Amino acid sequence: MVGFLQKTCLVIVLSTAVEFILGKPVNNAKLNPKLENYLRRYGYLQPAEKVFPQWRVSWDQDLSPSVKSEQEMEDAIRKLQRVANLPITGKITDVEAVKIINKKRCGMKDFQTGKRTKRFTLDGTSWHSKHLTYRIQDFSSDLSREDIESTIERALQMWSNASQLTFTQVTAPGVKVDVNIKFVTGFHGDRYPTDGPGKELAHAFVPLNNTGLAGDVHFDDDETFAINGGNGVDLLWLAVHELGHSLGLDHTYYPDSVMFPYYTGYRPHLQLGGDDVDGIQHIYGSPNRTTATPSFTSPSPPISPASIPHICSIQRIDAAVKTKNRNTYVFSGAYFWKLHKSGATKAMSIKENWVGLEDNIDAALTRRKTGMTYFFKGSKYWIFSATAAVQGPLNITQLNLPDELKTMDAAMELPRAEDHAYFFKGDKYWRYSWSTASVDQGYPQIITSLWKGLPNDIDAAFQWKRGRIVILNGGGYYLLKHKGKIGVKKGFPKTFFSHWLGCSVTNIREH
Ligand SMILES: *[C@@H]1O[C@H](CO)[C@@H](O)[C@H](O)[C@H]1NC(C)=O
Ligand SMILES: *[C@@H]1O[C@H](CO)[C@@H](O)[C@H](O)[C@H]1NC(C)=O
Ligand SMILES: *[C@@H]1O[C@H](CO)[C@@H](O)[C@H](O)[C@H]1NC(C)=O
Ligand SMILES: *[C@@H]1O[C@H](CO)[C@@H](O)[C@H](O)[C@H]1NC(C)=O
Repeated sequence: MVGFLQKTCLVIVLSTAVEFILGKPVNNAKLNPKLENYLRRYGYLQPAEKVFPQWRVSWDQDLSPSVKSEQEMEDAIRKLQRVANLPITGKITDVEAVKIINKKRCGMKDFQTGKRTKRFTLDGTSWHSKHLTYRIQDFSSDLSREDIESTIERALQMWSNASQLTFTQVTAPGVKVDVNIKFVTGFHGDRYPTDGPGKELAHAFVPLNNTGLAGDVHFDDDETFAINGGNGVDLLWLAVHELGHSLGLDHTYYPDSVMFPYYTGYRPHLQLGGDDVDGIQHIYGSPNRTTATPSFTSPSPPISPASIPHICSIQRIDAAVKTKNRNTYVFSGAYFWKLHKSGATKAMSIKENWVGLEDNIDAALTRRKTGMTYFFKGSKYWIFSATAAVQGPLNITQLNLPDELKTMDAAMELPRAEDHAYFFKGDKYWRYSWSTASVDQGYPQIITSLWKGLPNDIDAAFQWKRGRIVILNGGGYYLLKHKGKIGVKKGFPKTFFSHWLGCSVTNIREH
């Protein structure tokens, strides 16, 4: 039985590949049924009604009869491209499609169809208790029993460390547990047989009514599992991911998140992403901390004071940003400063404190919705969670930003407009939508057409306390009013260095 199933899947994979490779670039209206199948299976397209009520469908089911508009199809492909980190065009080539279809991934859907996607997505069901029990019911021969047990324990610890959940392993036979963990192949007693080596690596059951299969995790034992960077699928990543489903989390778009649907390979110091943490805390609350852990440990002090610039002596500010831990930083050349209400800290080295980031950045912004801070330089960008590196450098083509923004002046988000980012260059600005991952229609526009009283060639923009927007240009700063008509507040610009930082003329000369 199992052997037969594997064979069936294998044949389908091969025939899919052949069809795509031989075909011409796909006209969406006549999309290859195998890709359409994939889009339905993982929730990108509405399943044909009543036929597929469950969270996934069989590979060989006939999925053709549904009515779909070209627009529907294009939207689905856009979403898929966004998840797969491809340029978001709404059209897909055969080669790209085949690559995506054959990627190793989790067997759960990417989208709850009809449900609005957020940074983290919740299944909508959860455990009534925060103290859960688990059992490892069947093991894999790929790893020792001890290694599997300690890997599962570590995976659960990542979720319990970030929330109020606790987990207790049960080994005594006959005792009912919340989360049953098994390595399985082929048909194994639920309606979701595994698919042989590759592609789907595991599936899990969301908390639902907290009984029966709820919370259970099934790893596909036709995969080869490994730990600590060994040859095979990293069991830790997969376990953290599947257990996220067991606890009530759905997939997210973001590759830095453990709940990203595709297997992204072994990562030496695997940690939950910012939205994984937000998601689990949204359901089960933050851990009870006895001691606050500062997310910014005292930065290394200047080594050779003579070579370190005083903030009053810098010529130009490259970028400024408030991170999610509510600190505001100003960047110039190889240094940065933490900004206070009046004044700033000593200069600190970018390289020593923002791991992976480069000197001379162009712009930075923090997304309030996700807490992630984005740094831009040329065609590169980096993602940080407060001062912790999350990803980068990435290429801004992944965000679909136009070429002209490869050397942007500044970037910012406005309060209460969390889907949008604003990018500035010269006398123009672009409004960017995160949900469509593209610049909105009608942009760029001329800065002064909307932002009355603002200069061109701004250096930096950031949100200060209570959502006030500060724009830096040359030595001046502007405060924006964003209620009613957007424009510069009366009495601005003021001199950034003397009014804000308290630099005196002497100070400036000295350094
Ligand atoms: C969970 O937190 C404890 C205590 O801070 C720490 O020792 C442990 O390494 C953490 N576990 C994981 C998997 O992060
Ligand atoms: C955390 O605190 C809450 C409220 O004080 C309490 O109900 C809960 O049991 C605590 N959780 C843990 C893991 O200590
Ligand atoms: C829980 O849900 C499952 C699946 O829908 C169902 O079969 C089962 O009867 C439910 N159990 C209870 C106690 O409601
Ligand atoms: C980003 O991608 C574009 C287009 O593919 C390429 O021209 C550019 O060199 C890339 N930039 C970096 C820094 O890799």
